[in-house]
Amino acid sequence: MTQRNIHKEKETDIRELLKVGIKRELPNKTAEKDRQVFLKAGETLNPDWPEPAGPILITETDDTYPIQPNVWDNWVAFAYMAFDLLANEIYWKDSPEDDPSTFGDASQKGKIESFAAIGTSNGADAIGALQAFHDLEQIVITDISSKALRVAKQNLRRYLDARESDCEMIARHGNLCSGLKDLKVDVVYENLPNIPNGNTDQGYRAATFHNKSLARKVKLDESKAVDRDIVKYLLLSHYALLLDAKQVLNDGGSVICAIGGRVPYGAISEMIKKAGYEFEELFSGFKLQTETEEVLQGYAAAEQKYGVKFDFYDFKQVSGLLAIDMEPPYTKLPGDELKKMLGPLAISAEYALRLYRKNPSRKFGHVVHMVRAVKRD
Ligand SMILES: C[S@@+](CC[C@H](N)C(=O)[O-])C[C@H]1O[C@@H](n2cnc3c(N)ncnc32)[C@H](O)[C@@H]1O
Repeated sequence: MTQRNIHKEKETDIRELLKVGIKRELPNKTAEKDRQVFLKAGETLNPDWPEPAGPILITETDDTYPIQPNVWDNWVAFAYMAFDLLANEIYWKDSPEDDPSTFGDASQKGKIESFAAIGTSNGADAIGALQAFHDLEQIVITDISSKALRVAKQNLRRYLDARESDCEMIARHGNLCSGLKDLKVDVVYENLPNIPNGNTDQGYRAATFHNKSLARKVKLDESKAVDRDIVKYLLLSHYALLLDAKQVLNDGGSVICAIGGRVPYGAISEMIKKAGYEFEELFSGFKLQTETEEVLQGYAAAEQKYGVKFDFYDFKQVSGLLAIDMEPPYTKLPGDELKKMLGPLAISAEYALRLYRKNPSRKFGHVVHMVRAVKRD
């Protein structure tokens, strides 16, 4: 591969980002004995994060999803935390208090030997997976943008070579899991765009908008509430991915979905069940809305089209409120409780857009849900 076609904009060191795995807060619903297991696992498996000898560099170009200077403004930071939880098998289920065995039980897990990042963009998510899952023998990266994938491949190769890793890297260009049909993996990670838009050719736009042709891949019965919710709450890309991933997941394998909680919490869990998976919440938190104007525009258009309201928040107001007893990224509460607590402060995309246009320096935020869809066929 020549470097000629990569418009190199900058190199970003992601060491600070990669550290977040060990800086998690405990869900406050965790029973005390499970809390001990959790802490013990954290202490045992993650002693002070071994500072790598040199920087962990990511090349960013016009075609890749930008890395933000503040750690918690990055989706990928939430992904690292999720990988770390999964690697330690410490996450809560729907009723964890009643069943302590669901915490810290390594026998439930088995080794995670293969991982696929669907829509990897710059490859930073895959590097985080390699940091968290120490048994990986195969790492797969895909993207619908061939330009982004080329950069991701280069970034991941540099990381693997620097560590003299013999983990096999497979890079496949394509829609959803279409490039993986000959493979089986233990974990899939996805953070696909929510907003439909036909034109995803231009660089970064592919990170925010998905191609309309996704809708044609999925058959929905709009007489059913769950199917209608998938469409009107813009969950189609996640649903299409979940359906596709079934063919490439090993039994007991799972998809980690990063989904903006701008939609009702129940719409996400129902979508995952409808796709034929068990739903588990890893954690939820609060994040800055990046790419503000185009995202708000996309959601405002959907509000008009489908007669729904998405949940955005004034970033300063909500982060100030959450900071009373939490630290960024505010993960102490389960997603449904977090949404309920913030309910009175939610504003629609249309209203947020109007505020933004009056004052473009104003910041907005949204809830983040890191969830796990477990294949149990
Ligand atoms: C929001 S970015 C996420 C980047 C990275 N995975 C992360 O979590 O930060 C979404 C990525 O998904 C890619 N993408 C969009 N639609 C896709 C599809 N249908 N199949 C595969 N990748 C897609 C985009 O090109 C973009 O790189």
